[in-house]
Amino acid sequence: MPVSRRNFLRGVGATGGAGAMFGAMGALGLAPAASAAENAAFAPPRASDFTLTGRSSRTVLVLGAGIAGLTTAYELGKAGYRVTLLEGRQRPGGRNWTVRGGDTETDLNGETQRVRFAEGQYMNAGPARIPQHHVTLDYCRELGVAIEPFVNQNADALLYYTGDTAVSNTAVKHRTAKADVYGYVSELLSKATNAGALDDELSASDKEALVEFLRDFGDLGNSTGDPAAADLYLGGSGRRGFDVEPGAGLQAGSISPAPALHDVIASGIGREFTFEFGWDQAVMMFQPVGGMDRIAYALEKAVGPGRIRYGAEVTAIRTTPAGGEVDYVDARGATRTAAADFVVNTIPPHIAARIPHNLGPGVTAALGAATPSPTGKIGLEYSRRWWEDDMRIYGGITNTDLDLAHVWYPSSGFHGDRGVVVGYYNYGRQALEYAALPHAQRRKRAVENGAKIHGPVYGQDIASSFSVSWSRTRYSEAGWVDWTSQTGPEYATLLAPQGNVYFAGDHLSHAIAWQHGAMTSARATVTALHQRVMSS
Ligand code: FAD
Ligand code: ALA
Repeated sequence: MPVSRRNFLRGVGATGGAGAMFGAMGALGLAPAASAAENAAFAPPRASDFTLTGRSSRTVLVLGAGIAGLTTAYELGKAGYRVTLLEGRQRPGGRNWTVRGGDTETDLNGETQRVRFAEGQYMNAGPARIPQHHVTLDYCRELGVAIEPFVNQNADALLYYTGDTAVSNTAVKHRTAKADVYGYVSELLSKATNAGALDDELSASDKEALVEFLRDFGDLGNSTGDPAAADLYLGGSGRRGFDVEPGAGLQAGSISPAPALHDVIASGIGREFTFEFGWDQAVMMFQPVGGMDRIAYALEKAVGPGRIRYGAEVTAIRTTPAGGEVDYVDARGATRTAAADFVVNTIPPHIAARIPHNLGPGVTAALGAATPSPTGKIGLEYSRRWWEDDMRIYGGITNTDLDLAHVWYPSSGFHGDRGVVVGYYNYGRQALEYAALPHAQRRKRAVENGAKIHGPVYGQDIASSFSVSWSRTRYSEAGWVDWTSQTGPEYATLLAPQGNVYFAGDHLSHAIAWQHGAMTSARATVTALHQRVMSS
């Protein structure tokens, strides 16, 4: 008798537990490969690969000391490759950039901001969170970078959506919105099931099981025991949060009534709940203690002293019969040429597309096919942690359809005397609108909008601020890139070496906009290059 996929999984789960279930899902192609297995598949080049085979090591020029370039240099360096990195900026990390007091940045609008955050305060202008399965955490372990939880979701953070319902244009706690959305959706599905709408899909026992699940999932009937209320969302349990908290003695607490079904559904207030379902956004998530750039500096140290030439802007790339050559303008403004057996180019594709080369028109077309994607953030340093003191929000993210998109509360320094709130983290059109403004206007607009969500406190006690527009940031010109296709010829062109020039970067991965993508791409390039050397 044929076994349905669902019954097969249910059977395995019943007899073998979760581990067997997961293994079976993998066999059916339903579960992703465990990252540990994927990591184990990377075999870093070893010094013995050269000594045991009588080969001599090679020289490599790595263009860009972002996470891809640093990872490439680190892994090749372990085996004795002599690697030199050419980096336009004066620091390692590229988009991995932690902004601290004393830093100065001049953007492509020509505006210079001096960061005035107090000692110990910072904003991760680029990457800020790391999922558990990313190799980024493996490098943190290997390099001794301490990590701490990043609060990617907080039941007491807020939602604020504009509209014309009773729950629009007002801040709603995440937990309250979730209780109402889950409750009403469960009520509707329960009613539909009981009214026979799913009779063609479900057996009588399946229907019973579904309704039982929905009562729990949506908190239907609130355990009143009244059969008439069994599939109604009454909204009267602590899931929504309390107006008066439960306490001592007779203080049972009180909860305001749930809004009407129409208001909850029409407000769209459930739209952000699925964020946490994402493969890369589910809790737990982590951040390095003290700032994301701890990873970049740890890699810089591991790569070794003197390997990185800072302030070196690459201006031309050539493959040659002997290897590769790169022209660059050094920190003093002098034009220089460097040569090596191989070149690995990790410069973002939309920038690399403008750099003259002899790799052929296909490479120019391939680099130009990547579409830059704008994004930006503002860091608002407050001299009082009002979100904790007044609102009891300890980390996490407030989501809104205002042009701020996301407001982040700091995931560290709890109960301290100050902290940096990310006042907006937005993308696309909204990011471009902020990008066009000078910093003071970005801040004014962010504070005005943030006050709609948080009230006047949002405009008080601001000690300093700093904003970044990635599309207006030199040597990045975007937050990341999009491809129309990652199976087409352009993408494939950059996965292969062009003569003696290789490419790497998060853009050459299926984890774009993640350091994991930069690191795994670097590993793939290191593997390909080393295999070529070993087979020559
Ligand atoms: P880059 O970091 O861009 O490195 C390229 C290097 O080339 C840079 O150092 C640059 O200065 C250099 N360069 C450019 N032009 C030249 C030139 N002409 N000559 C010499 N050098 C040059 N990732 C996460 O893991 N978690 C997150 O939460 C996360 N959030 C993000 C949020 C934002 C706002 C942004 C912008 C990115 C985020 N990312 C996140 C993505 C992460 O930052 C990137 O995937 C990763 O840092 C890319 O590394 P890379 O080496 O491929 O590229
Ligand atoms: N990966 C980036 C983030 O999580 C875009 O914000």
